[in-house]
Amino acid sequence: MLQATNLTKNYSGHPALTDLNLSVAPGEVYCLLGANGAGKTTTINLFMNFIQPTSGEVMVNGLNAQALETKKYLAYIPENLNLYGNLTGSENLQFFAGLGGAKPDKPASEKLLESVGLQPEAIHKRVAQYSKGMRQKVGIAIAKAKQADNLLLDEPTSGLDPQASNDFARLLRDMKENRVAILMATHDLFRAKESGTHIGIMKAGILVHSLKSDEITLTELENLYLETMKAESHAKTNY
Ligand SMILES: Nc1ncnc2c1ncn2[C@@H]1O[C@H](COP(=O)(O)OP(=O)(O)OP(=O)(O)O)[C@@H](O)[C@H]1O
Ligand SMILES: [Mg+2]
Repeated sequence: MLQATNLTKNYSGHPALTDLNLSVAPGEVYCLLGANGAGKTTTINLFMNFIQPTSGEVMVNGLNAQALETKKYLAYIPENLNLYGNLTGSENLQFFAGLGGAKPDKPASEKLLESVGLQPEAIHKRVAQYSKGMRQKVGIAIAKAKQADNLLLDEPTSGLDPQASNDFARLLRDMKENRVAILMATHDLFRAKESGTHIGIMKAGILVHSLKSDEITLTELENLYLETMKAESHAKTNY
């Protein structure tokens, strides 16, 4: 369970996030949309406690995100994953999953990497030879190995080919069925509509719209997004 209450983050007086109220329950996939600089990464970083709020509260499974204990309830995939180039995909998975408290052995790590769609012949190649999408799959496998209650994703599908993006949507569905609470920043309206149970549209640090994805068609979502980006006012409205 992820919860933000009146969450605000300023950088030297400049608002990056203003008064965010948001909750993601187990089995929900909340997709955050918004232009560059809208505050999506800031929101995710606050849940990860990489940065501290200026005011308001951010909770993970009912605990303040500043509590170290929340780490075990969180898995995180950043847009650009730093893996060890000299290690293979399988070795990276074992290393990073180990840091997260999971201990997949070699066969288990091979199985996990195959389950996220990494080509079997790549599993024992050095990651330095991987494409961006292949590295991203290792990140997804690391997050999966941890079996955390909450998953935070910052533009996970950027740079994935359509097949990989589809594989990824399937993984999200599996995690959703396993009652994981998922918060995902994305620029992909199609995936947000397809994979999200809820969609939020942010603008200049404000969550302007928050809706259920089955309340809106893809075309309506696109129109709403474009109108929101065009509108002068940053005032909150109810969709
Ligand atoms: N470390 C920082 N210091 C100062 N300002 C920052 C810092 N990090 C982010 N900001 C500002 O906070 C605002 C929100 O940025 P954020 O990274 O959350 O946007 P975003 O929605 O993730 O954008 P993108 O789609 O480009 O990833 C921007 O105005 C940005 O310039
Ligand atoms: Mg971002």
